[in-house]
Amino acid sequence: MDDVSKLSAKFETDIKSVRTYKEAEALAMTYLGRNGHINSLLKTMKDLPTEKRKALGSSVNEIKKSIVEHIEKKRKELMKKMEEETDIDVTLPGKAYPAGSLHMVTLAIEEISRIFEKLGFVRMSYPEVEWEYYSFEALNMPKNHPARDDFESFFIDTPSHDDFGKMVLSPHTSSGQVREMLRVGAPPIRMINIAKCYRPNWDVTHTPMFHQFEGLCVDKGITIANLKGTIDYFVKEFFGRQRSIRLRPFHFQFTEPSFEIDVSCGICLGKGTIRNEKCKVCKSGWLELAGAGMVHPNVLKAGGIDPDEFSGWAFGFGIERPMMMKEGLKLNDMRIMYSGDIRFLEQF
Ligand code: PHE
Repeated sequence: MDDVSKLSAKFETDIKSVRTYKEAEALAMTYLGRNGHINSLLKTMKDLPTEKRKALGSSVNEIKKSIVEHIEKKRKELMKKMEEETDIDVTLPGKAYPAGSLHMVTLAIEEISRIFEKLGFVRMSYPEVEWEYYSFEALNMPKNHPARDDFESFFIDTPSHDDFGKMVLSPHTSSGQVREMLRVGAPPIRMINIAKCYRPNWDVTHTPMFHQFEGLCVDKGITIANLKGTIDYFVKEFFGRQRSIRLRPFHFQFTEPSFEIDVSCGICLGKGTIRNEKCKVCKSGWLELAGAGMVHPNVLKAGGIDPDEFSGWAFGFGIERPMMMKEGLKLNDMRIMYSGDIRFLEQF
């Protein structure tokens, strides 16, 4: 018997003893693998005279083909048997592990940063646990000033600093204004500060931890027109081309003059009515969006900037509130954003 016939006979016995899928795989390796029987047989070819080499080549190829077919058949048989025995479809794809996603507020923060980056605003972050000084005094709100009540705060139980007072969980991002002026040293300043803020409120439009983003622009000859243009640009990028803004006179200690900024309602587009009925979302055509104003001279002074030479504006937006105002996302309770409810979160 020649080598090829011997191998063929051996394979016939070997395949008969295969009982499991794993054994079929092992047999395939023994015969067809890199160091398998077929390859060793082919290696003997190089020493043979041409005629014999050709003959051996073709018979090895034949038996190889037959081995491949037999093993394939065996595999299929065993696969079917496994399925019948276990009632599992082994060809089904595996289960995908649930993929996480970024929180909707994180996504909004990234979008806001991108919009302001295009105008050359630098994104900064300042301490969440802040001195009373930067949260209030530096912003023209001396101790016992009633305006501080508007920014009810969580105080930290630590000894008071002689110059900076107590520590608070920063109640607004405005605490970054003077810090930024001191960091930069001299105008021009174009900053946005996006951070967590804390105030003790808990209802459908308030969570005790929320986010704000503060814009600050200081240079020579900065006016309200620059403020209006910047916010109009932001609103059109963030909410859509069809939305517009208006400024309403207001009061903040750290800006003069001060405004509240409203954005036209995305549902009735500022008209206040839809088909002769009052718009249920805004009731008036406008939604309150942010506080803003021209930086108060005392604040510039606290930041080491001469108010006779430079002027600037600042604004402060909440992040959660504008998100609730995006079209297509009409949330009626802000608290769901921080409920950790996967059914809500996985939609973003
Ligand atoms: N800090 C103010 C608030 O939290 C908003 C504001 C920022 C107003 C900057 C004017 C200028 O309500």
